[in-house]
Amino acid sequence: MWKGRAMEVGIVGGTGPAGRALGARLAAAGATVVLGSRDADRARAAAGEIIARWPGLSLEITGAANEEAASREIVVLATVWDAVVATAVQLAAQLEGRVAVSMANAITRVGPEFQALVPVRGSLAATIQAAVPGCRVTAAFQHLPAGRLGELDQAMEADVLVCADDEQAAEATVRLVESIPGLRAWRAGSLASACAVEALTAVLVNVNIRYRTHTTLRLAGMPRPKGETGR
Ligand SMILES: NC(=O)c1ccc[n+]([C@@H]2O[C@H](COP(=O)([O-])OP(=O)(O)OC[C@H]3O[C@@H](n4cnc5c(N)ncnc54)[C@H](OP(=O)(O)O)[C@@H]3O)[C@@H](O)[C@H]2O)c1
Repeated sequence: MWKGRAMEVGIVGGTGPAGRALGARLAAAGATVVLGSRDADRARAAAGEIIARWPGLSLEITGAANEEAASREIVVLATVWDAVVATAVQLAAQLEGRVAVSMANAITRVGPEFQALVPVRGSLAATIQAAVPGCRVTAAFQHLPAGRLGELDQAMEADVLVCADDEQAAEATVRLVESIPGLRAWRAGSLASACAVEALTAVLVNVNIRYRTHTTLRLAGMPRPKGETGR
């Protein structure tokens, strides 16, 4: 939960399963969330559906155009992966100086399994950073299955790897992750390491398909108890 005032989070592409689920979790943790869309009405409808589904939680979640979501204190990029770079470029003015957390994974289905694609800079996060140098890109949340994240009556227990070149952006992302009960954030290197983080998602999806589950990442042997920050 947030210590102090509520953080304002915008989720670009927030009408998809991932953006909705993360937005709902963050709102349940006390954040004020704006789901963004290319169509503000679609985003408002998505926010309304979340509020209607969890009436007892008094969630602070609204819908708006992507431009509005990209103007929040911290921004999550949850657009479908093959449009996330172009979307960030379109929103460059709003993202200037802001922390933009990319949760996108370039993965594709090949026959019965998913495989990772390698974007031009090794990862989508690094590609966004190169295309929009004025924003402070981090990578996080790649491995959290939306199906599990969105079930607010089920506890989360997961580790989230955070990659970033900018120290303050990394710390803001760690705080965002750890505002959600049950999530631990771990600093996993610069954006150069985001390629491995994003690619691992294809492996986890294959595990989930084979074993019909919603598993995610959990690191063994970490030194600190849950609830302390990952800095
Ligand atoms: N699904 C998961 O479990 C999961 C987990 C972790 C990370 N991720 C990552 O999170 C991102 C979102 O995943 P998702 O499953 O929610 O994806 P999705 O439903 O396919 O797409 C998310 C949103 O992207 C927007 N969008 C679609 N085409 C677009 C285009 N051409 N230009 C701009 N925006 C477009 C749509 O919003 P509007 O039409 O409303 O604009 C859509 O609701 C992906 O990059 C994925 O790799 C997904």
